[in-house]
Amino acid sequence: MRTDTGQIVQLADYRPTDFVLERVDLTFELDPQNTKVEARLIFHRREGADKAAPLILDGDELTLSSLLLDQIEMPTAQYDVTPERLTIRDLPEEIPFEICVTNYINPESNTQLMGLYRTNGVYCTQCEAEGFRRITYFPDRPDVLAPYTITIIAAKEGNPLLLSNGNFLGGGNYDEGRHFAAWFDPHPKPSYLFALVAGDLGVVEDSFTTMSGREVALKIYVEHDKEPRAAYAMDALKRSMKWDEERFGREYDLDIFMIVAVSDFNMGAMENKGLNVFNDKYVLADPETATDADYANIERIIAHEYFHNWTGNRITCRDWFQLCLKEGLTVYRDQEFSSDMRSRAVKRIADVRHLKSEQFPEDGGPLAHPPRPDKYREINNFYTTTVYEKGAEITGMIATILGEDGFRKGTDLYFERHDGDAATVEDFVKCFEDATGRDLTQFFRWYIQAGTPLVSASTAYDPASATFTLSLEQTVAPTPGQSRKEPLHIPLSTALILDNGQIATPIKVEGGEFKDGVLHLTERSQRFTFTGISSRPVLSINRSFSAPINLHMEQSSDDLIQIARHETDLFSRWQALTALALPNLIAATQAVRSGNEVSVDPAFISTLIEIAGNDEFEPAFRAQALTLPSEADVAREMGKDNDPNAIHKARNAVMRAVAKAGVETFKGLFSSFEEKDDYSPDAASAGRRSLRNIAMSYLSYAEETPERAAKAFANASNMTDMAYSLSVLTQRFPDSAEASDALATFETRFADNALVMDKWFTLQAAIPGDGALARITSLMASKHFIATNPNRVRSLIGTFAFGNPTGFNRADGKAYDFLAEQIIAIDKRNPQLAARILTSMRSWRSLEAVRADHAREALTTIERSAGLSTDVRDIVERMLKG
Ligand code: TRP
Ligand code: ZN
Repeated sequence: MRTDTGQIVQLADYRPTDFVLERVDLTFELDPQNTKVEARLIFHRREGADKAAPLILDGDELTLSSLLLDQIEMPTAQYDVTPERLTIRDLPEEIPFEICVTNYINPESNTQLMGLYRTNGVYCTQCEAEGFRRITYFPDRPDVLAPYTITIIAAKEGNPLLLSNGNFLGGGNYDEGRHFAAWFDPHPKPSYLFALVAGDLGVVEDSFTTMSGREVALKIYVEHDKEPRAAYAMDALKRSMKWDEERFGREYDLDIFMIVAVSDFNMGAMENKGLNVFNDKYVLADPETATDADYANIERIIAHEYFHNWTGNRITCRDWFQLCLKEGLTVYRDQEFSSDMRSRAVKRIADVRHLKSEQFPEDGGPLAHPPRPDKYREINNFYTTTVYEKGAEITGMIATILGEDGFRKGTDLYFERHDGDAATVEDFVKCFEDATGRDLTQFFRWYIQAGTPLVSASTAYDPASATFTLSLEQTVAPTPGQSRKEPLHIPLSTALILDNGQIATPIKVEGGEFKDGVLHLTERSQRFTFTGISSRPVLSINRSFSAPINLHMEQSSDDLIQIARHETDLFSRWQALTALALPNLIAATQAVRSGNEVSVDPAFISTLIEIAGNDEFEPAFRAQALTLPSEADVAREMGKDNDPNAIHKARNAVMRAVAKAGVETFKGLFSSFEEKDDYSPDAASAGRRSLRNIAMSYLSYAEETPERAAKAFANASNMTDMAYSLSVLTQRFPDSAEASDALATFETRFADNALVMDKWFTLQAAIPGDGALARITSLMASKHFIATNPNRVRSLIGTFAFGNPTGFNRADGKAYDFLAEQIIAIDKRNPQLAARILTSMRSWRSLEAVRADHAREALTTIERSAGLSTDVRDIVERMLKG
């Protein structure tokens, strides 16, 4: 493993390479422990580059075996080589030359899962961001693009499949026992999009005819006998291809598109050109083993990786600082796709919940960084929710500012102008300016400023002049390295709702731009006056969450109830319900801490129950409305001195109050939404299941017995209902015989399905209370737990640290010590995974003092540990400093 050098990469230091890479020709002779890699690279010196400049190639844990220049062995005096770098001097000034590098690598011992590794007997690669340099010496940066020819030689036995990017050229016998295949990818690409897969897998095949009439072969490779479980992924792929043509005019560009599902993978999936590699969790699904959430994730991630073909591959990033150029835009695109496939309002609610629970804490804590950072120590640590999800929000704001047509004109221009480029965020934004004439200079600050803006709003209504006044102020708290913040251009979708429920059309708006229902806040403080408003309106602001901000406004619960009951924007109804719920949850927490009785506003309860029982709303929306802010949401809202036990008790008390008042409604929902037909994963069916299940959750509070959930578990005909009822049993009645019986039944039934056993780990890792730590330790000894598999580690240790606030934040700090120990151990095998799980402690400073002290001690233990990877060192140091 590479340990930390302390080196920082700066955006300001960017400059193009001295050499242009013309062609790449790679030959692999695969062997589990000793794979030979031969790389022929044709370069020429860039026009205007220094004639004496050496060629510098990146490596990572490499040993050079031989080096040729134009087929002749290079004198050792002409180059310097270390495991991290190959420097070659005295190269031709004008003419192209060929470097041939040979080295040997060991895929089996590659536990980092970066570069070429083995998973379940299959060879596979992961090269983003800097994994290619673990395969061969190379200019491993995204602005070096070339066409690749790949030859793979491997034992026939065990490796009937030999796959790489692009189109298949041919193959056949190689020598005794070995065969070969050759692939050519005509689209110039950076090394991070390279992929190779070899092994013995089953396949599902289909085809897609593009808008210009070309037929594309589609293949999804999975472990043998799992082919039926890839059907939904294939369906999602075809819908993605069609949608990208219709919505963005983007057509696929090779004759074949392949997806390979592997069981050891650091992230969700990877968009390698023509050969996407997926965590099998995001490919495999059937009703018996996958939940509705699993189906939705598969649809989303299949779309995401496919969409990268244009936003990421055809147009890539100049450097890794521009990561949100491809990720923010591609997340925006996958969110739009899911909105079109499912319910737009429900999808928006889910996305905003996720943004607030993941990105807002990141942006408000020691790991805060701009969506386009300007320095990094380890790029792996910048695949963050800020780059991805805030990046998507910024793209969405551009769409809000420009309108649908303007936005499409901008993306059309972007695809036309930058096809084949390694581009920057500036290039991207310029396309929207040039296509529409709108100045986005101030808007650009969203990319380079960290922190969630706080918008404070106050209102006044004057009946005499029929004038409504809205005063807005924006501030952003300082973030690490950025104390001064410039005002942002914040587009706020806004409606003034009149008594009759209609949206007011003002005669005139002064104080700033208000167009097509969007208010443009551009100053630090700004006052808008709306004239011609005949009665006092209710203000509904940041509709659809048009900007990723925190809003502070004194709004009466009557006004919020009016929005919750009558807004035409469903998202805003949910937002108003959240605004009603949070003060109740916070007051309940304070009551618990001071030993007082919890009381809940009856008007809030009745609004919630009214929406729950209102058949005019789709069930999925009602389920979202009934899902109260999480314990983590309450902690974030309270901001400091948090006691997770008090929040847990308080939230349970609020749940119980709602449950008691709505018991008849919940019983009605539970029985009328019983599953009758065969399982279908579509959004409407999933919505019915989620409404019924949340009703069951409330009933567990009203009835206080595990019986109903135990019965639901026994009767479940699909994994959604089974896992949900098991979660009610384990969360609410962890010590009951019903819970332990159900866990045992589940284990026996799914023992040979690792992805389902991950649910078994997740459910148990999330059981609240001080018993959690002992449970985690004993589950680590379970025969189902495999410490080298990232999905297992995330399910058990990740869920404990991220998703069990009471169990993890024990007052004695023992769970932090446990995590520190685990992080140090995981880091030795897989630094990327270790660093990711460590970010679970990013909000440690907002804990009450005793816990915060324990957390600091555990972080300090990690910091003092010898031989840390750059990944973990970078995170732990920022967390202790920021
Ligand atoms: N680019 C991938 C995506 O967003 C994710 C990714 C980045 C990744 N680095 C990775 C996946 C490392 C696996 C391992 O879809
Ligand atoms: Zn992506």
